[in-house]
Amino acid sequence: MENKKVYLNGLYLPLNEAKISVMDRGFLFGDGIYEVIPAYRGQLFRFQEHMERLENSLEHIRLANPYSRERWLEILTELLSPSGDQYIYLQVTRGIAPKRDHAFPEKAEPTVFAMCSNIAPFEGRESGVKAISLDDSRWELCHVKATTLLANILLRQQAVEQGCAEAVLVNKDGYVTEGAASNIFAVIDGVLITPPKSCEILPGITRDVILEIAQKNAIPYREDVITLEALKTASEIWLTSSTREIIPVVEFDSQKVADGKPGPVWQNMNRLFQAYKQSQS
Ligand code: PDD
Repeated sequence: MENKKVYLNGLYLPLNEAKISVMDRGFLFGDGIYEVIPAYRGQLFRFQEHMERLENSLEHIRLANPYSRERWLEILTELLSPSGDQYIYLQVTRGIAPKRDHAFPEKAEPTVFAMCSNIAPFEGRESGVKAISLDDSRWELCHVKATTLLANILLRQQAVEQGCAEAVLVNKDGYVTEGAASNIFAVIDGVLITPPKSCEILPGITRDVILEIAQKNAIPYREDVITLEALKTASEIWLTSSTREIIPVVEFDSQKVADGKPGPVWQNMNRLFQAYKQSQS
């Protein structure tokens, strides 16, 4: 294990010295929220948007934000290197309670943890990946970036065991929601489509950047529901996230997507996205 410097409750420590209590509600219940913020050449990407989502997540679980945005920026900047592609993982839990009880403790100090990791080049980012559809077995608060990720983990693992990079989740009405750890886009009849924001999906920051780029560059797009059948007719399928960026899906449910190669809309969007990233750092 790389013994890098991490942040825990006001202190910077080597990773192997950062310890939490077994009575922490994050450990006992997954009672906490998190963020993943990419950083390019030492600059946090879309910091304000990630903070806004963090604030929404905290509000939903009724936990006060321990720091101002300015303080968060100071804390996180200290963990970054000036070069390369990195990401911050941060989490805030409801802290240590005197006994294990589902209801909130009367008083608890939140536990705050943050660390920085390198973004490893993702295999398949240029050549594309395989994905499968699975039933969305998650809860009804998917817009909250909760650390309670058991359903997502089981779904991703099922996909991996079938040789796929991601599970595309389908709700009870037959509509595609998102990936186990990514948002989804499809090109259908020449239009880029992504499901609208709702409590069924995480409002991805990468998703918003893509929609902004589409708008600025007159790429036809809309936010709309996508049925699993419609997705199977798509000429392109993409999965998006902060750490993997925009991944073309070239095989879906064992069928080639179009000719089985990343499509022209992806080529264009990926180029525009890389240029946008450069302009921000
Ligand atoms: N996950 N949907 C889900 C369920 C996710 O877990 C993620 C990202 C996204 C994409 O959001 P963004 O573009 O803001 O990264 C959508 C992160 C990377 C993770 O859990 O590691």
